[in-house]
Amino acid sequence: MQTQNLIGGRWVGADSGATFAVTDPATDEHVADVPKCGRAETARAIGAAQEAWGAWRSKTAAERGEAVRKLAELMVRDQERLAGLMTREQGKPLAEARGEIAYAASFLTWAAEEGRRLYGEMIPASFANKRLLVMRQPVGVCAIITPWNFPSAMITRKLGPALSCGCTVVIKPAEDTPLSALAIGELCGEAGIPAGVVNIVTGTPAEIGDELLSNPAVRKLSFTGSTQVGKLLMRKAADNVLRLSMELGGHAPFIVFDDADVEAAVAGAMATKFRNAGQTCICANRLYVQAGIYDEFVGRLTEAVSCLKVGRGTDEGVQVGPLINDAAVEKVEAHVADARERGADVLFGGQRAHVAGGADRFFQPTLLAGVTGEMRLSREETFGPVAPVRRFMEEAEAIAWANDSDFGLAAYAYTRDASRCFRVAEALEYGIVGMNDAAPSTAQAPFGGVKQSGIGREGGKYVMDEYTETKYVSWGVSGA
Ligand code: SIN
Repeated sequence: MQTQNLIGGRWVGADSGATFAVTDPATDEHVADVPKCGRAETARAIGAAQEAWGAWRSKTAAERGEAVRKLAELMVRDQERLAGLMTREQGKPLAEARGEIAYAASFLTWAAEEGRRLYGEMIPASFANKRLLVMRQPVGVCAIITPWNFPSAMITRKLGPALSCGCTVVIKPAEDTPLSALAIGELCGEAGIPAGVVNIVTGTPAEIGDELLSNPAVRKLSFTGSTQVGKLLMRKAADNVLRLSMELGGHAPFIVFDDADVEAAVAGAMATKFRNAGQTCICANRLYVQAGIYDEFVGRLTEAVSCLKVGRGTDEGVQVGPLINDAAVEKVEAHVADARERGADVLFGGQRAHVAGGADRFFQPTLLAGVTGEMRLSREETFGPVAPVRRFMEEAEAIAWANDSDFGLAAYAYTRDASRCFRVAEALEYGIVGMNDAAPSTAQAPFGGVKQSGIGREGGKYVMDEYTETKYVSWGVSGA
């Protein structure tokens, strides 16, 4: 297991020798100690990325793509090892961790190919003796700050396109899950990515963040995390007018219409709500179900929720692991308590789950009915395994509730009516709409939100815009 930081191609500790502990959220067992770095080490990582940039950007797209594709292959080769490491530091069930490694590799494979298609343009000029060219060039050194809920995929979703476009990077992984990031760093070396192109620094978030945002060599910040932290980073990034890609919080509505395929809708709700114990930005956070199908949907959902197996991610058949830390469990508890006080009915779950030999960090898969708009879980992201259901009468009412939020990342709707599919998809103020589909995320599609859910898009051809500058060359042609 790699526990040191990667700076300029060397594996190093903090200057002070200080470390912090990584623990298993399922058991509180100590997993490893990693360097507690600050500004000085981050400045060196930025310096290394700046130095490596010239040679990296000069390589052909095919050469860069080859290295990025190789990294994807190595991740797939080491899927079992990487998944095991992820489950230990993050807690998600092994099956989900394996899925995440494959998902993480898919962003690399996609970006490796897409790098060859960074086409320029020639614009018809207004004068016969001019030629107007548009070319795309790498942004430069990119700061990448990633969350704990997808410790590998949220890195590769940024790293793949950044490298393919010719940028170099300094990655700051979440304090809860640095080991998956360091493991990717090791594979970067094996993939033939030159020293200094990828740097990884773990440690004190404020210090590392301050250096990343104030060092003039850094040209861009790509961040995935909460809206609250995102706003703070954006304010600091303003001083150097950094380019920003921000993938922030969500509060996804999940709308089930009377004419929905109820079996598919229940399966979809289960998949999007309980994946990663409800700790994803695109998890269904509020379920709106039309009156005519309400009883059947809620009955079937209760049955499905009651069958979920809670436990340590390493145990066979477990579907819901621990929450990441104590604060996460307390937030879920507070949301459930608030809903109960305001009159919600607990149809299933509602409290912490006891897991033999486990830490006190598991929460029962929970289903709440009688939910109203003023409850906290109707207004804020819960980030836990709680499904609050609310009955609606008319399409317009569900759309109004869905859009009544500062967030706009993902939304879901289930209906068999093709006209309604279009109407609803167009009316939802969200960056992603899962229409009869609870798993819209994929490497070739744009991922990102509107309103306070973020800026920019990851995935697809769109992400390449995030890591390239558009340069215009107006060319005078004598004799034309
Ligand atoms: C996220 O929760 O931020 C990512 C979810 C996904 O990629 O599907």
